[in-house]
Parts: sequence; structure tokens; C-alpha cells
Amino acid sequence: MPVTQIREITPASRLENVRYAIRDLACIADEVARQGHKILPLNIGDPLNFDFQTPAHMIEAVYRAMRDGKNGYSPSSGIKEALDAIRGEAARKGISNIQDVFVTSGVSETVDICLAALLNPGDNLLTPCPDYPLYSAVLAKFEIGLNAYYLNEEDGWQPDLDDIRKKITPRTRGIVLINPNNPTGSVCTRQMLEEIAELARRHNLIVFADEIYDKLIIDDDPHVAMAAVAPDLPVITFGGLSKNYLAPGWRVGWGIASGEASVIKPYLEGVNKLLRARLCANHPEQYAIKPALEGPQDHLVEVKRKLRSRRDLTMKWCAETARVSCVAPRGAFYAYPRIDIPEGDDVFVTELIRQKYVTVVHGSGFGQRPGTKHFRIVFLPDEKTLSAAYSAIGDFMRERYA
Ligand SMILES: Cc1ncc(COP(=O)(O)O)c(C=O)c1O
Repeated sequence: MPVTQIREITPASRLENVRYAIRDLACIADEVARQGHKILPLNIGDPLNFDFQTPAHMIEAVYRAMRDGKNGYSPSSGIKEALDAIRGEAARKGISNIQDVFVTSGVSETVDICLAALLNPGDNLLTPCPDYPLYSAVLAKFEIGLNAYYLNEEDGWQPDLDDIRKKITPRTRGIVLINPNNPTGSVCTRQMLEEIAELARRHNLIVFADEIYDKLIIDDDPHVAMAAVAPDLPVITFGGLSKNYLAPGWRVGWGIASGEASVIKPYLEGVNKLLRARLCANHPEQYAIKPALEGPQDHLVEVKRKLRSRRDLTMKWCAETARVSCVAPRGAFYAYPRIDIPEGDDVFVTELIRQKYVTVVHGSGFGQRPGTKHFRIVFLPDEKTLSAAYSAIGDFMRERYA
């Protein structure tokens, strides 16, 4: 008779604070779908779920790489032709003083490695509130408490500089800036970047500039890279193929490290230790980086045309709907309307899925100022799907809060 294990295997207690509202909600949506209802998904920022396709020349490059036998491990930092192309792209964005470039399995892995290489127990990192929940999930995994600074809704969701100043402590090691922002769609002004750089200099902070949406600026204003306004400052700029190049499933991201060599080099040795420990990023997919960055950019014209039309439809609905107000998004594909309702926004979104089969994500899943309530819309679906979703949300609100 074999011995059977009877004690349950429990997860580490540090995981209690790991949350990822965007995917957690999918469980409720799955339950509703199993009951036979068609879900209108406005919750996951994956363009490939909608009418967007990965550019064909990138697919061809990966196919060719696989056929040519590029199926072993790559160097830990990435293949040379991709690293050269990323440096070239950084130079076009005005980033100089580059000290290192490395390719990872999506920006998700860049974040994991860059935070792991920096933070000791008791340290803290400034992260935006609201923020993309990856950052708080990774910090929770490392048992680092949150030190969130507010984005200011009254100022078009620009970072609240006074709040940042208040939150810097002797153990603050860095600041995360998501620009264009998820979930608000805001884009930082050059002046804001300069002011944050000045604070970072004064307090010896490294800046993690998450610029994964930098080519998805809806109204054609320029995107200014943080590293370009502060070449002296230690900055890691995050970018990748998931959003700008419509290939999220390939899991290709990168980090560009810039700043004074003497200041950033010791940290980069730590980053490289972790890059080596995890072997490498997906190898054949790295062959799409050079064709993506240096090849035709035609898809961006089409993507931005669709995003502009869908953003405008979203803003029209927000303006016409009672209890809803919204700062117009200027980049990425998210809107973060504020709602004036007598219950929690988590209840709002769960009931909305159950009653109208529309999935959005509650503001409390991203963080927000106490007393305010929001939800995040992914406005990637086509106009017909979006209109159906907005009409259902409008009905829901009228029926529930009349
Ligand atoms: C701001 C931000 N950073 C990083 C990521 C993750 O990107 P990747 O697919 O490269 O891991 C996302 C994905 O939605 C994001 O919105």
C-alpha cells in the first residue's frame, strides 16, 4: 500500500498580496460564458483579440529564424542584431549615454529582473497610483511594501509632484513612470519629465520608464522619452513588441539602460547576473526585433486611425452618460472613467458581467484616491462591439442607480 500525502501543500504567505485584477476577473467572465452568454470583453489589452494583426514581415522573420535552426538558447542579453536595432531606435528617440541593452521575455520579465536586482528588504520604490498591477504584484512577491504616488485626475492624470515629494524616504531607491499610462491613457509633458528627473537627481533615484506604448500616441503629438530629457540620470527604458508591434504572445520585451556609467554600472552587473541565471529570452522571436524597428511602420497608421475613432466613441459615450466623467486618453488603448455610484466599483464590475455580460476592470484593481471610483475600459474592439458594450453599461447604470 503506497503512503499517501495527507497534509495540503500551501502557497508562500508572501503571495497573499499578489493580485492581478485584470486576469482575476476572467474567472467570473468564464463562469458567465459557461452559462451560454456571449461576453463583450473590454478588460484585456491584447489587440490580437480584436481586428489587429501582427505585421506579416515580422511573422516571416520568425518563421525564417526557426527554419534556419535558430532554436537553441540565445546569448543571455539577446542576439546582436536585435540589440543593435534597439540601440538604433533609442538613438532615434534621442536617448544617449546608453550603458547596456538587454532582451527579455516581455516587459513583464524586464520589470521582474530590474526590481529584483535593485531592492533590499526595507527599501521602497515609488509606483504610480493608479498603476498597471504588474508592479505591485512583483513588489509583493519580493515582500516590498507599496509606496504609491498619485496621478492627478484634475491635471489630466499627470503625476502629482507634491505627492511624490512627500513620499520619498531615505529608503526610496527609484521611481516607476508609465508613459503613455495604463490605465489612464495619459501622456507626460516634457516639463513633467524634467521635474521628475530633477527630483530623482536630488534623491539619488533610478527611473524605470515603462514606455511600452510609445508609438501609440493617438493624436500625433510627439512622445518624449524620459531618458532623452535626462541623459545623466540612471534610467532603464522599457519597450517591446507586445503593443507597438502587435505581438504580445511572442513575449519579447527589452530594457535600455542609460545614464552616467560610474553611477549605473554596479547595478547593471546585478541585472546581468539575473539575465544569465534565467538563460535567455525566446530565441527565434528575437529575429523579429530588427525588422519591426527598422522595417515598414505602415501598421501604425491603421492602428492609430482605429484607436482615434474608438477613443472618440468612448469619450462621446462618457460625455452623454449620467454619473460618468472621463479625462480623454492621449495614448495606448485605455480609458479610465470616473463613476459616481453608491457602491464599490468592484461590485459594479462584477454585477455588470453577471447581468450584461460586459467585462471591464474596477478602479480598485489599479488603485485610486480614497473616495473616488473608476473602471478601466480597453477600447480595442471595433465600433459596433464598443457601441453594444456602452449601450449595455448605460442600461445597467440606469436600471441600478435610477
Ligand atoms: C504598462 C505596461 N507595462 C508592461 C506590460 C507587459 O508587457 P509585456 O507583454 O511585454 O510583458 C503591460 C501589458 O499590458 C503594460 O500595460
